[in-house]
Amino acid sequence: MPEGDLQRRRTADGSFSLFSGEVGEGFHSADGALAEARAKFVAPAGLGRFAAGRALQVVEVAVGTGTNTAALLEATHRHGLELNWWGLERDPAPLRLALADAGFRRQWPAAVLSDAEALWASERLLWGDARNRLADLSAALTGACDLVLLDAFSPRRSPELWTQEFLGALARLLAPQGRLLTYCSAAAVRRALAEAGLQLAAIRAIAPQEEGSWSDGTVASPSPLPPERVLRDLSPMEREHIASRAGEPYRDPDGRAGADEIRAGRALAQAVSSAESGSAWQRRWGGRRHHPRPREGGMGGPGQDR
Ligand SMILES: C[S@@+](CC[C@H](N)C(=O)[O-])C[C@H]1O[C@@H](n2cnc3c(N)ncnc32)[C@H](O)[C@@H]1O
Repeated sequence: MPEGDLQRRRTADGSFSLFSGEVGEGFHSADGALAEARAKFVAPAGLGRFAAGRALQVVEVAVGTGTNTAALLEATHRHGLELNWWGLERDPAPLRLALADAGFRRQWPAAVLSDAEALWASERLLWGDARNRLADLSAALTGACDLVLLDAFSPRRSPELWTQEFLGALARLLAPQGRLLTYCSAAAVRRALAEAGLQLAAIRAIAPQEEGSWSDGTVASPSPLPPERVLRDLSPMEREHIASRAGEPYRDPDGRAGADEIRAGRALAQAVSSAESGSAWQRRWGGRRHHPRPREGGMGGPGQDR
């Protein structure tokens, strides 16, 4: 993407972010890029589960500015953990812009920034369409990953990295206790993860929310995910949403389809589905829904995938 399509943003917690003019969506929550990385990716990773000295196997999809990489590295340093990290990203411009920004560099302790820069400059960052490059990791990492971070643009705007096929391939990377982490709560994504054999939990919203509120993302694992400080069971509202037509997964059997083709295929499948419509679901639960603020230009809660 030409850098001109990417506009710099300073988010509410003072951290660096970008807005993509091409996609029409921000890279992070306007409330705070760093706060979001910590709340939606680092905290639900549950690093306290691992003994000090352990080397975590991690695949990060959509590295972008590198905010999630550096936030994870910062936390692994604190926990005395090693990081065997692989990243997938098609565009070098977001990372270049972040590293050229003095404010971004000041966000991190010097040791974190220098370890992160070494990773980003290494062959562990695989450039290109993540759908193709994932195959280069699958043989070595199937069943081996402690964490998979998925931070693509929202499914509605950019469904390529949210399809049943791609999510299924990410699910196969997970170790038995491994966790796939995403800010996304879309029903179509949750159903695809469940159909890939994973157990689901919701990431508790950062801001205090009323009963019946939407969540701040999803954690998926081959093993059950008991509720904890940052995770909770999916609510009946969310389970019914997954079962509704809004839960119709995005499909891309050849791994090459464009966004319009993927959206059109899903709309056709929804049109012939006998499941409850997303709007009927919304009418039933409408009075109790409270969504966290979406990313700039993005869609929050059920709007991510209706
Ligand atoms: C929401 S941003 C990522 C935010 C990032 N985690 C950060 O902290 O800055 C989405 C990223 O996905 C990348 N992307 C979009 N489509 C992709 C694809 N098919 N393969 C690999 N990367 C892709 C974009 O270049 C962009 O950097």
